[in-house]
Amino acid sequence: MSKIGIVTGGGDCPGLNAVIRAVAKAAHRRGWEAVGIVGGYEGLLAPQKTKALVGDTLNGLLVRGGTILGTANQGKFSAKVGHGKLRQLPTDLLEETKRGCEQLGLIGLVSIGGDGSLSIAQQMFEYGIPVVGVPKTIDNDLAATTMTFGFDSAVACATDALDRLHSTAESHQRVMVLEVMGRYAGWIGIYAGIAGGADVILIPEIRFSYGSICAKVKEREARGKMFSIVVVAEGAREAGTDFVTSGSSSEPREARLGGIGAQVTAQIQERTGKETRCVVLGHLQRGGSPTNMDRALCSIFGAKAVDLIAEKKFGQMVSYTGTGVTSVSLAEATRELRTVPLDGGFVTAARSLGICLGD
Ligand code: F6P
Repeated sequence: MSKIGIVTGGGDCPGLNAVIRAVAKAAHRRGWEAVGIVGGYEGLLAPQKTKALVGDTLNGLLVRGGTILGTANQGKFSAKVGHGKLRQLPTDLLEETKRGCEQLGLIGLVSIGGDGSLSIAQQMFEYGIPVVGVPKTIDNDLAATTMTFGFDSAVACATDALDRLHSTAESHQRVMVLEVMGRYAGWIGIYAGIAGGADVILIPEIRFSYGSICAKVKEREARGKMFSIVVVAEGAREAGTDFVTSGSSSEPREARLGGIGAQVTAQIQERTGKETRCVVLGHLQRGGSPTNMDRALCSIFGAKAVDLIAEKKFGQMVSYTGTGVTSVSLAEATRELRTVPLDGGFVTAARSLGICLGD
């Protein structure tokens, strides 16, 4: 019987289990066996760590958060060496990985990951390992797909937080600052900020000034709006400062990112005299059940990944175009991060709505 492997790499994200389920179901329909690789790519190395994906193992996976296979963004396969820089794996590690796949008898491997894990998948493909990719990240910053899975769930989480912050901000006549994830790209910030009615949205793509933020708070006050809601993506920076997100992912996030939400909060309070509070949403955005949109996306991604293996289209990543699912090369998908375009619909709409983007 033909056998395929499934591996989850990098930070976790809502919908990982839904993809695992879809891949296993689609493989079973073809009469293939599906095995999960436990603990990220390291599970491929001898002695291999696998989990059979059969029968009851798949029950309830569509809605369950996290990954039943475990994941890793550190160790032998850690991909990042800095902002946008990816590591080249040593040949002996690639050789060991290839041998591992052969020992398991895999005809194909589905790698579910973000830019780091998929750039490793690309290196594996170049080394002769039959791998295909599925785009995962709450940050939505992978090139060559309109949407990654996990993003919609993260936006739903951040929007829910903004709805809750609105009522408390209004009751206390305060400024509430919500820090959301997004190291290099402000997708979560701009989507959730618009969906949640934010007054100010700060994203990594636009350097901000405190003068501009505080002017917005004051302008609202002058119109009798005694509270304001500010969304800050964790990678947002004041004009004139450099990116400080250059560390490896093994460093604590605080060290890499410097708590921008707290900095913005302190500055607004000092400069406007208004009581200001900060909420850091953090890993809440990565946990829990996927939204309906993500469940559907994960299911079509998983089914398409199995089709790619059947067609021997290795080195490809499944991709969502807005109307359907297709595939693109892993090389193209991992060439560069997809940031929020400054002349695109969301930035333009935010400005038209009178939302301050900090510039
Ligand atoms: O890449 C997704 C992401 O959620 C980033 O937005 C965030 O900075 C990072 O992961 C945090 O990852 P960890 O705490 O697992 O290192």
